[in-house]
Amino acid sequence: MAGSVTLIFHFKSIPELDVYFQQQHERAFGTFPLKGETLCNALTLALDVGYRAIVTAQMYQNEADIGPVLSACGIARDDLFITSKVPNDKFTDAEFVVSVEKSLEALQIDKLDVLLLHWPPANGAIEKPLELLLQAQQAGLCSHVGVSNFTAEMLHRTVKFTDTPIVTNQVEFHPLLNQDTLLKAATETGIPLSSYCSVARGEVFKQPLFTELADNYNVTAAQIVLRWILQKGVSINTMSTKAENIRANFALLHFCLSHVDMARIDQLTHTNCRLVDKQVPWAPKWDI
Ligand SMILES: NC(=O)c1ccc[n+]([C@@H]2O[C@H](COP(=O)([O-])OP(=O)(O)OC[C@H]3O[C@@H](n4cnc5c(N)ncnc54)[C@H](OP(=O)(O)O)[C@@H]3O)[C@@H](O)[C@H]2O)c1
Repeated sequence: MAGSVTLIFHFKSIPELDVYFQQQHERAFGTFPLKGETLCNALTLALDVGYRAIVTAQMYQNEADIGPVLSACGIARDDLFITSKVPNDKFTDAEFVVSVEKSLEALQIDKLDVLLLHWPPANGAIEKPLELLLQAQQAGLCSHVGVSNFTAEMLHRTVKFTDTPIVTNQVEFHPLLNQDTLLKAATETGIPLSSYCSVARGEVFKQPLFTELADNYNVTAAQIVLRWILQKGVSINTMSTKAENIRANFALLHFCLSHVDMARIDQLTHTNCRLVDKQVPWAPKWDI
């Protein structure tokens, strides 16, 4: 069963979600912490390789570097799928929309494909930021809305708060972290997950299992890791500055991990190595 993975098989049939996953091509190019020439080179390579989904955030301070690359790349705007995120300190009536307008200006586009709340507020009160997010959508600043770093309980509260499809919850997701609770909540709420830190910033490569499986499937260790994520029903964000890695991270649809190998990798999730938590004082109390 090689080929494209049907990520939405868990989820309700919602046209916005179908559009999201078709446009995402299941694989997005993340841009943190890239800036300047490094970003320009990596993003140009990624677009050449075939990436069309690009993920940035106001916090990355690189939207103004991305805009000119996208404008000059010769790819039609409709074929690109651009996501940005609003940080917590802009979750006010005065600042939310203004900040998104600045993102659009920097990215040299009229509308984002997806706008995310980058983090839930530290006090857990997600309702006001969700209201601001929906207002931005109604004002035509983005086609779709989503969230990032939401817990299972927050996903349930989100679908009680709004009927508007929430096209993704972008979270840390890799084989060294157990996210079963979030996966279950994704299925229950119809809010699919997308990954960040997909190769655990290199930590996964310390596990001999990935070298063994890479040899068996004749792919790289990173491709095994990323294919595991896809087969969990999660779309992928990866970032790399190297041509060979950018190519490998996109080439995931020609092979399929067996159920046995998926289960072997699942065992590693008990490592519970969470990377981003250590740097983010406002992180919520995670599910596990
Ligand atoms: N929503 C959020 O709160 C949040 C938080 C963190 C990150 N993100 C997003 O997710 C994206 C990805 O996460 P991340 O960059 O933090 O972590 P990551 O994708 O796990 O790790 C990136 C690192 O892995 C290396 N790498 C990538 N592909 C590789 C491959 N095939 N083989 C070997 N090494 C490889 C890269 O080095 P080389 O350059 O040498 O290839 C880079 O240093 C970010 O760029 C960002 O857009 C979102």
